Amino acid sequence: MAAALCAATRRLRAAGIDEPRAEARLLLRAATGLAPETLVVERERRLDPAARARFEALVARRAAREPMAYLSGEREFWSLPFHVAPGVLVPRPETETLVEAALELVQDREARLRILDLGTGSGCLLLALLHDLPNARGLGVDRSERALAIAAENARRLGLARRAFFVAGDWGRALSGSFELVVANPPYVASDELAGLAPEVAHYEPRLALDGGPDGLSAYRALLPDLVRLLAPGGVACLEIGRGQEPALRALFEAAGFAVATRPDLAGIPRCLVLRPAPP
Ligand SMILES: C[S@@+](CC[C@H](N)C(=O)[O-])C[C@H]1O[C@@H](n2cnc3c(N)ncnc32)[C@H](O)[C@@H]1O
Repeated sequence: MAAALCAATRRLRAAGIDEPRAEARLLLRAATGLAPETLVVERERRLDPAARARFEALVARRAAREPMAYLSGEREFWSLPFHVAPGVLVPRPETETLVEAALELVQDREARLRILDLGTGSGCLLLALLHDLPNARGLGVDRSERALAIAAENARRLGLARRAFFVAGDWGRALSGSFELVVANPPYVASDELAGLAPEVAHYEPRLALDGGPDGLSAYRALLPDLVRLLAPGGVACLEIGRGQEPALRALFEAAGFAVATRPDLAGIPRCLVLRPAPP
């Protein structure tokens, strides 16, 4: 295994991967199913041909800059394991800012809240919230059938399927009813900035999850009327925003009658817009 690991490390380094040795080890684990300590203690063990072929295929995909999470099939979010695969956005650490904000705003964690997650992707936001709010139920909406299938699979794996529902739709257009908590992480990269993103993102993650139109704000404008209609009186919405987007989005939502506050992520960047319908 040691020689295969060294060769893989060289190949990943040449492909511009930042931590080639660490990633090569993770891929070796994925290919062999061996525990991390076995990889160290039995480093001279021979790889059987099937495991070697699996390892080399994974290394080739990573060298082509496919995201690690697609290769391992998993990404942790809110300390929970989420299955991810091509066709769905890999959950990002900064998105946990929304979960934190929403949980702080919920006054009674035992309440039977109705939660709506617009653009649910892997289901990470909705499922993290349902995990911490034991009596809440939630609906995740997405335009991508692939994302919805993965979100439903995550709900099953996390034991939340009885309280999590998923439906295809264009934001909240086809929905009725009202929700005490709405969360959304809409696509917010300006279209002409997509090509400049890291290859892992630009070449592999779904454009539908990233492309926010000419100024990056198209999705917020599109879902605003649904938010106005679907947010329960006294309810709250937490929306993820991109760097530098706060002033324009604050103006957009204040003009629509919302009281707007923001929450920073761990880097101090305003990341979460907290919206409440202004009292009549
Ligand atoms: C930035 S991703 C967020 C995914 C997930 N909520 C997360 O935080 O990792 C945006 C999601 O919105 C979905 N989406 C894009 N346009 C949509 C639309 N018009 N209606 C519903 N969902 C849409 C995408 O398919 C994608 O899953």
